[in-house]
Amino acid sequence: MEKILVTSALTYANGPLHIGHVAGSYLNADIFVRYCKLKGKDVIYIGGTDDYGTPISIKAEEEGIEPRIIAERYNKSMKKDLDGLNIQLDNFSGTSRPEHIKISQDFFTNLLEAGYLTKKTLNQFYDEKHKRFLADRYVEGICPHCKSEGARGDQCDNCGKLIDSINLIDPKSKLSGEKPVIKETTHWYINLPKFENQLREWFQTKKYWKDNVLNFIMSWLNEGLIERAITRDLDWGVPIPLENTEGKVLYVWFDAPIGYISSTMEWAEKQGKPDLWKEYWLNPETKLIHFLGKDNIPFHTIIWPAMLSKQKEPFILPYDVPANEFLNLEGQKMSTSKNWTVWVKDYLKYFDSEYLRYYLAANAPETKDSDFYWKDFQNKINNDLNNVLGNLANRAFIFARKYFDGKIEEELELSEPSQVALKVCKNTLSDVENSFNTYQVRKAVKSIIDVARWGNRYFDETQPWKEIKMNKRKANETLYICAELLSAISIALYPILPDKMLKLRKMLNLSKIFNWKNIWDLQRRFTIGKVEPLFSKIEDAEIEKQLELLKATQNEEKKKMEHKPEITFEDFEKLEMRIVKILEAENIPKSKKLLKLKVDIGGEERSVIAGISESYEPEELIGKKVAMLINLKARKVMGVESQAMILAAEDDGNFSVLVPHKNVKEGSEIS
Ligand code: MF3
Ligand code: ZN
Repeated sequence: MEKILVTSALTYANGPLHIGHVAGSYLNADIFVRYCKLKGKDVIYIGGTDDYGTPISIKAEEEGIEPRIIAERYNKSMKKDLDGLNIQLDNFSGTSRPEHIKISQDFFTNLLEAGYLTKKTLNQFYDEKHKRFLADRYVEGICPHCKSEGARGDQCDNCGKLIDSINLIDPKSKLSGEKPVIKETTHWYINLPKFENQLREWFQTKKYWKDNVLNFIMSWLNEGLIERAITRDLDWGVPIPLENTEGKVLYVWFDAPIGYISSTMEWAEKQGKPDLWKEYWLNPETKLIHFLGKDNIPFHTIIWPAMLSKQKEPFILPYDVPANEFLNLEGQKMSTSKNWTVWVKDYLKYFDSEYLRYYLAANAPETKDSDFYWKDFQNKINNDLNNVLGNLANRAFIFARKYFDGKIEEELELSEPSQVALKVCKNTLSDVENSFNTYQVRKAVKSIIDVARWGNRYFDETQPWKEIKMNKRKANETLYICAELLSAISIALYPILPDKMLKLRKMLNLSKIFNWKNIWDLQRRFTIGKVEPLFSKIEDAEIEKQLELLKATQNEEKKKMEHKPEITFEDFEKLEMRIVKILEAENIPKSKKLLKLKVDIGGEERSVIAGISESYEPEELIGKKVAMLINLKARKVMGVESQAMILAAEDDGNFSVLVPHKNVKEGSEIS
């Protein structure tokens, strides 16, 4: 039987989930999966975090902690935010799990043995000060293609082209800020030119792919495929499965898509059927569909199929790669480093999760970039959902309760307007089906809301509030038609607004279990239960608040530093600061922020209270050497004496303890 395997691009685990991720590859996939489930298809939805690569190790270095901790932190937080948005993956994994490492190494070995990898010696940028090669994002400069500044060593955000970091103009090391030198190193390259004929033939069978995807591929092919390095000089990544390759790992874009497979394996394991993944990945009847943002196109349509095709097992190739364009925010390019985005966890503090689903679906960047405007968000929710759909349900249900005790009967002899209303509804729904099949969510949303709009017009024209006094049967007929329309809408809009549509079905007293086929059935009679508004209006003040919050994040960046009065060198000399070793660390019960430490200040022990427990787990600290102010007068904090003070930097409530750059013994004085 046909199976469908849906994936969302694995998000880098270097920050929390934001609306760009949702609009790019999560919401569209979730909607498609929910739609497939309504159609009774065997579908699974797989994803996770992309844990390796320089995005994560750079973030870890900024915070002075292990990359693994960063990856775990954001894997957890993304999972939570996805749940909050009712985006239901069957498995959400991460690429730093041991199972993933093994299969990624197998992919490498198989390609090597099949003769598709070449070992080459080449020049790379090297930071003399830090004695490290500068892979990918560790070097920034001017894009060799479009000449824009601030391009990273892997890809240019401005023109979207992949960059070989050595070609950056005016390069600067992210570690030292200095101009790197050039040094020889060895790497493995995948021989893409060798795949060219095979890929061209395969693309011939993909005429149904989205235009933006096909155009991208064509421009790549026309520029000519080149060999691409698939290894890096880094220590955070999947180790190369060969002797004498210390300090080298697989390139993150080599192992990341394999994460789709390892996540499916994890899913199968959790089902208690460890081989179940094979029924998807090794089954020619499976449709593999990758949802992603446009910057991911070349990896999924060229390199990934090439990799899959030379394995020992007969992996299927992508069936479709519906890539979205980008979502901008308030007319500007979204940027997490500039904090120009809406974080999902922040959004959820203020608004209903399904309003975001609705707005991003109605405004999806399917064929071109689209914009998130808070004002437009408010308009869409207030107009489409409140004034159109919510209003139709509300007025029909309240009327039914008031005059018919909630009981709506089937009407067999339908008036002309009623017949037209039903017909328009059915026709529109078959368009909706077609839209969902082709990932055109914007169009689906518009058609469904049009049905509700039609319903309101029909209600106005048939005037049940007049008929109720003259011809009760006529008034019932209007309610009956409206209820049939709403019942169909509760199925059609379910993939986009699952909770709201369940609520609507509950008011209509319809089953919680339903499928797409039911959309064509007439329900014939309804008993309207307790009526509650489906949606509520968003007030201007709520939107203004969001715009202010957004502005505030920008001002923060520019905030002027405030300085303390000058001190003399003698003042400074009064401070006794030393490197100490943390021997013990524990949370202080009932306190949110405080940790109790025992430290060795160089042959003497002290106990110290530190207000950093929101940034550190006690275990992370034990054994660390940190900077401390020793001669601060002892004081009692929550009944415990603190005999020194730990030195830490604060960044927006996040503490980072100061550690010496080289290993020095405890007791070393700081001056
Ligand atoms: N982490 C990449 C990004 O955010 C996407 C990886 S998709 C995968 O751009 F398939 F390779 F995992
Ligand atoms: Zn560029």
